[in-house]
Amino acid sequence: MEFFVTSAAPSRQRTDCAIVGIFDKGELSAAASELDAKLGGQIARLVKKGDIRGKAGDLLLLADVSGVPCERIVLVGLGGRTNFKRKQYRKVLSAALATVAKTGARDAISYLSLDAVSDADSYSLARTSAEIVGNTAYRIPDQKTANKRPKSLLTRFGFGAANRTDKTNAERGLEHGRGIVAGMGLMRDLANLAPNVCTPTYLGNAAKTLAREHRSIRATVLGEAECRRLKMGSFLSVSAGSVEPPKFIVLEYKGGEKGAAPVALVGKGVTFDTGGISLKPPPAMDEMKFDMSGAASVFGAFKAVAELKLPINLVGVIPAVENMPDGKATKPGDIVKSMSGLTIEILNTDAEGRLILCDAITYARRFKPAVVIDIATLTGACVVALGNQRAGLFSNDDELSVALDQAGKRAEDLAWPMPIGEEYAEGLKSNFADCANVGGREGGAITAACFLAKFAEGMRWAHLDIAGTAYLGGAQKSSTGRPVPLLVDYLINK
Ligand code: BES
Ligand code: MN
Ligand code: ZN
Repeated sequence: MEFFVTSAAPSRQRTDCAIVGIFDKGELSAAASELDAKLGGQIARLVKKGDIRGKAGDLLLLADVSGVPCERIVLVGLGGRTNFKRKQYRKVLSAALATVAKTGARDAISYLSLDAVSDADSYSLARTSAEIVGNTAYRIPDQKTANKRPKSLLTRFGFGAANRTDKTNAERGLEHGRGIVAGMGLMRDLANLAPNVCTPTYLGNAAKTLAREHRSIRATVLGEAECRRLKMGSFLSVSAGSVEPPKFIVLEYKGGEKGAAPVALVGKGVTFDTGGISLKPPPAMDEMKFDMSGAASVFGAFKAVAELKLPINLVGVIPAVENMPDGKATKPGDIVKSMSGLTIEILNTDAEGRLILCDAITYARRFKPAVVIDIATLTGACVVALGNQRAGLFSNDDELSVALDQAGKRAEDLAWPMPIGEEYAEGLKSNFADCANVGGREGGAITAACFLAKFAEGMRWAHLDIAGTAYLGGAQKSSTGRPVPLLVDYLINK
């Protein structure tokens, strides 16, 4: 997808399709009036006849128009002028693009932002627009042999800006949006793959491919023997029951000053989570192919950062395993020694995410990172607590927590701060090892975070539990690409 900004009036700009808004009660937006004048009042007449009313999401396609240099016009209802804010903007632009997609238009220009959305500037509207356009054009890498969803015809998207300053800001917004959506696309591609395709080995190769595509990225993939030498006993215990060899993936991006402390992103890469010997029940178990979404989001963030050439140093640490039951699988009661030296009594083999993340967090120490952020589909309890809207945000550093929370708000990819602390970690006590891998059922997302916090001591650390936000279930089953927008926004503003 190609993105551009135009500050020309709609009636003077050539395009396959102009997208213009109609407010509640048929009030024409500035762009609609401008076109209407050149069309001899055609739009106003259609409004008067009741063909479009201006309720949010109302749509009317004018095909084959003459008298203006746009071949088609998509009229879209914006709702009340005072309610036309960023959230509404997102909704109506998506609706308009769905209509554009039904036409043969190869390029389209949206003038929806011209009627000032009261809570957003042109930078963020342009960024949001690029994200929406890119995600609308996204197609799952499916294995359908028939009835494939056709590729989107739209290849160029224009953002109508009011004036020159607006144009500069919008261009920056589109550029950032383009990077974010490229990152989301990579995350979604990886996470949507079938688990017999996307194995730890596949992820290792994906890291090498990413490094080949971007000279600023370096990829190192450690195999089982090397991990054993590094004493990653906890990480290795999770793949003990799988025939798929574990891979420990390290990505490095150098765009900042030499020697500047990097941000470390640690992503849970469980390519399939059966639960292991603590086997999960059958319903929706297929969704556990998305248990590598944290890893996929780290790939996505790297892609975005490399495309945007951000002036930062970034490290990605991705422990990748498959969690299977088997004669050789780890059993409840087994005790393992983590890379940090802490011993762990594994009481539930389905609490495997923390077992691979703890060794990855320990490994991240060698980079002396400014901050460590782990991203994981870690607990069902987090989904119960926050639903599918917000990721759980846990941290041992208030400043970092606030920065990530704000990044989520700016990126419209929300998180919600959650507590950690000694009092919550009580349940992790073990009679046989330094700690257990599970506490009680209550506050499950918090105990999981407290477990990780033990391994992040002395580092500025945050944990995003994305179990509820990384993918949609049911009929819309697919990766969402979240939290790539949050992560990239944080890194842009670093
Ligand atoms: N991958 C799951 C968490 C999960 C659940 C993600 C639902 C997405 C949707 C994780 O490995 C897991 O199984 N967690 C257990 C932890 C429990 C055993 C303490 C859980 O949430 O039930
Ligand atoms: Mn599990
Ligand atoms: Zn899991």
